[in-house]
Amino acid sequence: MIVLIGFMGAGKTTVGHLLAEQLGLPFMDTDLVIEQRTRRSVRDIFGTDGEPAFRELEHTVTAELLAGPDAVLALGGGAVLHPGTQHALGGHHVVYLEVGFAESMRRVGGDAGRPMLRDPDLENIFHRRLASYHAAATQVVATGGRPPDAICLDILARLGGAPAER
Ligand code: S3P
Repeated sequence: MIVLIGFMGAGKTTVGHLLAEQLGLPFMDTDLVIEQRTRRSVRDIFGTDGEPAFRELEHTVTAELLAGPDAVLALGGGAVLHPGTQHALGGHHVVYLEVGFAESMRRVGGDAGRPMLRDPDLENIFHRRLASYHAAATQVVATGGRPPDAICLDILARLGGAPAER
């Protein structure tokens, strides 16, 4: 399993699709799986049930996908904060796509589907998360000023070009 982690706007979905195509693996995104299963948007789950409920759901889905067939799996930006998810990531290739706060905000713009963008404390949240991203990562890949295909090639080179073993 190859797992992509990092803050919103790091390029997890874009790079993940490219990587999956190159490796001949399915691409999965925890936010999409959550939305498909619940038939609700992440924004609605956050707004109606609250962030803690979303985090538990996110953990359940992530742990299940990690235990499933090989894939390239993009996690939501806050997923690695959950201790159970940190544990479940053990033994997998975990690629941290590094992005600066200003660049991440430029990339996501004002996306109404991302409820965390409305948090006035977002920049501090970004900084507080960095240690968790580093702790979970088996590879750290800088994304600033680099096109997605170059980032994909960088990851492939680090992985030896072969699908990861679980
Ligand atoms: C979140 C990031 C989002 C999504 C949710 C919460 C976060 O995923 O899981 O809106 O806490 O950073 P992306 O990182 O894919 O945007």
